Amino acid sequence: MSEGNMLDRRDAAIDGLDDEALGIDRPGLHAAPGERPQNESFTDIVSRNMARRSFLKGAAAAVPVLMTTATFAPFASNEAEAATLDGLAFEPIKPSTADKVIVPKGYRQRALIKWGDPLFDDVAPFNANAQTPEKQRGQFGYNCDFVGYFPLAGERRALLCVNHEYTSGEDMFRSYQPGRNKNQADIEIAAHGGSVVEIRLEGEVWSYIRGSKYNRRITGETEMEITGPAAGHDLMKTSADKNGTKVLGMLNNCSGGKTPWGTWLTCEENFNQYFANNDQNPDAELKAAHQRYGVTGGASGRAWEAFYDRFDVAKEPNEPNRFGWVVEIDPFDPTFVPKKRTMLGRAKHEAATCILSKDSRVVVYTGDDQQFDYVYKFISKGRYNPGNRRDNFDLLDTGTLYVAKFHDDNTGEWIPLTMTNPALKGKFDSQGEILIKTRLAADLVGATAMDRPEDCQPNPVNGKVYLTMTNNTARTSIVPDAGSAKANPRVPNPSGHIIELSEDRDDHAATRFKWEIFLLCGNPTIDLKTSAEQLEPGLASTATFFAGYADADKLGKVGAPDNIAFDSKGNLWIATDGQPSNADIGRPNDAMHVVPTEGKNRGYLRQFLSGPRGCEVCGPEFSTDDRTVFCAIQHPGEGGGVPNTISTWPDRKPVVRPTVMAIRKIGGGRIGT
Ligand code: FEO
Ligand code: CA
Ligand code: CA
Repeated sequence: MSEGNMLDRRDAAIDGLDDEALGIDRPGLHAAPGERPQNESFTDIVSRNMARRSFLKGAAAAVPVLMTTATFAPFASNEAEAATLDGLAFEPIKPSTADKVIVPKGYRQRALIKWGDPLFDDVAPFNANAQTPEKQRGQFGYNCDFVGYFPLAGERRALLCVNHEYTSGEDMFRSYQPGRNKNQADIEIAAHGGSVVEIRLEGEVWSYIRGSKYNRRITGETEMEITGPAAGHDLMKTSADKNGTKVLGMLNNCSGGKTPWGTWLTCEENFNQYFANNDQNPDAELKAAHQRYGVTGGASGRAWEAFYDRFDVAKEPNEPNRFGWVVEIDPFDPTFVPKKRTMLGRAKHEAATCILSKDSRVVVYTGDDQQFDYVYKFISKGRYNPGNRRDNFDLLDTGTLYVAKFHDDNTGEWIPLTMTNPALKGKFDSQGEILIKTRLAADLVGATAMDRPEDCQPNPVNGKVYLTMTNNTARTSIVPDAGSAKANPRVPNPSGHIIELSEDRDDHAATRFKWEIFLLCGNPTIDLKTSAEQLEPGLASTATFFAGYADADKLGKVGAPDNIAFDSKGNLWIATDGQPSNADIGRPNDAMHVVPTEGKNRGYLRQFLSGPRGCEVCGPEFSTDDRTVFCAIQHPGEGGGVPNTISTWPDRKPVVRPTVMAIRKIGGGRIGT
């Protein structure tokens, strides 16, 4: 299809969106009491969902507020108000190794959608012993990670956008034969990507709507468009795509984000693991670039290269360059051609979270999840237009990508990765090449090597940006590397930490910032530090710090912070990936925790959920009213292989099923209260 045709089709599809998708209630059309007022536009809904949290007080009563400026109300100054700021009153749970999902007393957790659940009427239900690629293309995919909530009407109908990060073949098939069983490879390719699925709340129970017109599966072979400066670059061309502008599928989509105009950003993370034979790469320079991203010299783990040449670097040296991007998808338009937005850089992107600058430019934070890799920020050239949704669709194609450098005086700077940066002069042929080789460019400008940057997300209540560093056991000595040792102070760092970053002038378009350690995760009974001044480089791996909160007996144990979310009070919710490997905290199952970011309880971390054995907990994501928290239970029982996995969750059968959960308070109420 030509580019023109593709764009025409997209415009026509958007024009054809019905009132329901645009969030326009007509009199008599599902306008239940308490639902939002008539004629609220799609932009109002999205803006309300994203901007209401910009206000500390009265958020629930706020009229729809458009995200034209990113203003943040000051914090409550009086003591009484500060004491109740977080609103958290649940009874924390204890760490667990039980093979089930545990939530606090007074809460109920339910499975909402599982791997293999059919999204369409004509697709067979899941049968672990009779799976086919064709069925999988119409069923919910494997290893759910990012969960994005996009309201359709009021608080009772929504679209969920869910990433399917990767497949665990040994846990999916009774006899897994990578490289020898093409049927299995095709099921795996179809189980990657993402799902859009409509959900409804009836009474207290969310369920997904099989056959909804919005439902969509995006897989490892869905046609996508490459946009932005790297589109059409020679390094993006392959024998199947001589123009370097079209690619099949997205792979290893971990977490993501939502734009102010209501699109889904889904992030390709460990894309390197799908490609083989870099040792036979005919181009030495390209071979080195692939090595910087971890592409293996020999066979890949899933061995798809046995069936598809594009996964074989010896045959298609450029194909890996077409992965590692942030992909934008319009969930309200099932015909939308997904766009790989190259201006946001090529990395093992964990997430991509948006906020507006004071002058309405779009700012996107993203972490590169690898030991000693970097934190990035994109600032758009154009401004967000709340009055015309379609005007915003290409905002992520033009702007500037920056990488973070932390200084030991608790300041930092965003360094532009542009052709005019003197450190990059003469090293790259174009902005497109800088973006394809983002990591190499960042190496040259002296970015700070971090402890596996995962989710990097602005807190819409206090405006600060929270950067999760999941862990780094390979940090064995304090080397005065580029920038700061204080920003990654623990040697080694088995439990991870969270950095709190404040942009200059509270403007997300600033190029300078201040930062401090918010949490040094781990077991708070070991070496609890209560003063930020004690956080010097070279701390023991067991040192912990909970934003100065001193009562160690009350604190939960947390390790490997990964995905984060904020409730309407600005409390930070943390999902973990890797707690079981951490002896310091007793090797509990992965979990979800919450910690206030302001007030007298700042740093008072409590556990809210424990996942089944062998899983990581992903999401989390709140409904607009904060009365539901969704999370994804990814890879329960991982690694044992059917039928010996360490979990039988959720069906108490030998084949485990990654599942999205919905959690509500019994009798109603905000989550955590
Ligand atoms: Fe897929 Fe960075 O976790
Ligand atoms: Ca993750
Ligand atoms: Ca992770």
